[in-house]
Parts: sequence; structure tokens; C-alpha cells
Amino acid sequence: MNDIYTLGIESSCDETAVSVVKNGRKVLSNVINTQIPIHTIYGGVVPEIASRNHINNISVVTKMAVQNAGINFKDIDVIACTYGPGLVGALLVGLSYGKALSFALNKPLVGVNHIEGHIAANYITYPDLKPPFLCIMMSGGNTQIVYVKTYTEFEVLGRTKDDAIGEAFDKVARVIGLGYPGGPKIDKLAQSGVDNIELPKTHVDGLDFSFSGIKTAVINLHHKNPDINKENLCASFERYITEMLMEKVKIAVDKTNMKKIVLAGGVSANSYIRKEFEKLQKQGIEIYMPDLKLCTDNAAMIASAGYYDYLAGKINDLTLNAVPNLKLD
Ligand code: KG4
Repeated sequence: MNDIYTLGIESSCDETAVSVVKNGRKVLSNVINTQIPIHTIYGGVVPEIASRNHINNISVVTKMAVQNAGINFKDIDVIACTYGPGLVGALLVGLSYGKALSFALNKPLVGVNHIEGHIAANYITYPDLKPPFLCIMMSGGNTQIVYVKTYTEFEVLGRTKDDAIGEAFDKVARVIGLGYPGGPKIDKLAQSGVDNIELPKTHVDGLDFSFSGIKTAVINLHHKNPDINKENLCASFERYITEMLMEKVKIAVDKTNMKKIVLAGGVSANSYIRKEFEKLQKQGIEIYMPDLKLCTDNAAMIASAGYYDYLAGKINDLTLNAVPNLKLD
């Protein structure tokens, strides 16, 4: 089979990212323009500002990605674009640009689910990884346990009933004065703290989660006691939220008898969570974690997912629209 070059485009939140990936696994370029410094002053992503910055960045980032890959636009075989879930205005920028490229180059357009992209980040990190496996998807907008049956077929076994895990990290960080994005800051501070503050764990039936209770408990604790040791608070928050996560992971393993677990999404960069998953290896469970630079939003993961969608014949026409609440299954 001839090599297939996929151009991936990602603009679902505050990263304008474009990448070229060969045969779904080999990253030839991965350009990311992050707007984090712009949104930091607001304590979170401002959707309208994100869209406007995507418009300013998308052409330059795309040209750079093609150039860095050492190819020409005419060498691209497939255009893969995130079309949901995400901020509608932000999604529309990348998708419209991808549609225009698909039309101009006369190459197939593939709409990619952003969550599917996060899962595919693992195909880049582990060139031999193949489905089926269980994926623990943990990002700023989603928390799900997914049974990945094939490259393009998914069954969501459980999801958060309220806040996503990354959202809980970000909101706690904002209230205790660490700024945005909070996950990496809590991760760092927790490393010099002791997890000695008791926090409530919310129990939800089945494989669903709820993270808003622990988030509110930490925020209330900080409001009542502003001098509370932040390092210990962060360490305790990480410990209890991870315990809630791991309880469900164990149930999912027992229920499916699947002993191959793959992490995905920005929160899978968390060092405490990674260590807890590593412990499962001693119980005979294979653990796969995306390369740290592929955990958070990027377009290489979108190109990889788009390549497998393309092979499965999932090609879209130019009427494809952004779907802000797109589901995986
Ligand atoms: O996957 P992602 O880039 O965006 C979404 O698709 O939502 O994830 C961003 C989330 C943010 O909530 C951020 O705080 C969190 O990932 N995050 C972390 C860490 N690095 C990023 N959370 C905990 N520990 C980290 N080291």
C-alpha cells in the first residue's frame, strides 16, 4: 500500500494545532499555537477570544506544519479535522479551514471526534498498540471509561455526571490562587505536600463518576480557612480524586475482563495518577500512557484518528458542521 499522509487540524478549545502524520503513526510535524497566556488573565478560556485567535493563527500554523513535514500541499492525501466536541466558534475555524483545503486540493475530508483523537495519541506513542482495550479518558471537558472495540468503534461504559476531572482541577486551582490551567500547577504543588486532609468521596452507581462534590469541598475548605497549607490541600485533592477514579477503573476491568488499559486526555499527564496506574501493572494489567506532549490538545492525534476513519471509509462531504456536544458512541 502507498504511504498515506494525513493533515490533522485541531481547534476545539484554546490550541490552534496542525500536524502531518504518515500512515497514522509517524509524526512528521506537530505545530501547536497555544492561547494559554491570553486566557490566563481571565482564569479560563473565553470562547469568543479563542475563535478570533484561531482565525489569526490557522493559516500560519498550517503552512508551518506542511513545511516542517518536508512535504508540499499536493502530497497530502487526507484532511482530518476535529468537528466536536468543543467550543462551537473555535471548532468552526479549524473545520472551515479544513473544508476549504479539502476543496482546493481535491482531497477527502474526514471529521474527527476530539475524544477519538485523544485515544489515538496512544497509537503514536506505542506503534504496536491495537484495539481492543479500555480507555480512561480524562480531559478538561470529558471524563469517560471507553471500551475501544476497534479503531473506529467505541462503547462508553461510564462518564462523569457533572464536572470533568480536568475541570475540577482547574476550578480548585483558580479558587486557591494557582491560576489557569490548574492541573499542572496542582500536580507540581502536590509533590511537596502531604495528603493528610480528609475529603469526601462521591459514590455514583455503575461506572459513572461525579467530581463536583470533592471540588466544592476543597473550595469551601479554602474559603473557611484561607491559610490552609496549599501543598497539603493539593496532595489530598489528588489522592481522593484519584481514589474515586481508580475504584471505577477496577470495576471496569472486572466487568469487561479486559486487562489492557490506555490513558488519554490532558489529565493523564498527572504524575500522581500515572503512578497509581503503574501500580496496576503488578496485577497483570498492561498500562499505556500517551507521551506527555501528546496528552494535551494537539493535531497529531487528530491526524492519527482521521487516518483510521479514512481506512474505515468514514469520509465526509463539505456539508459537515461543527457539533459542540458530539458523543463518541
Ligand atoms: O485534553 P486537554 O488538553 O483538553 C481537553 O480536551 O479538554 O486537557 C486539558 C486539561 C486541563 O483541565 C488541565 O488542567 C489538565 O488537562 N491537565 C492536568 C495536567 N496537565 C494538564 N491535570 C492534572 N495534572 C496535570 N499534570
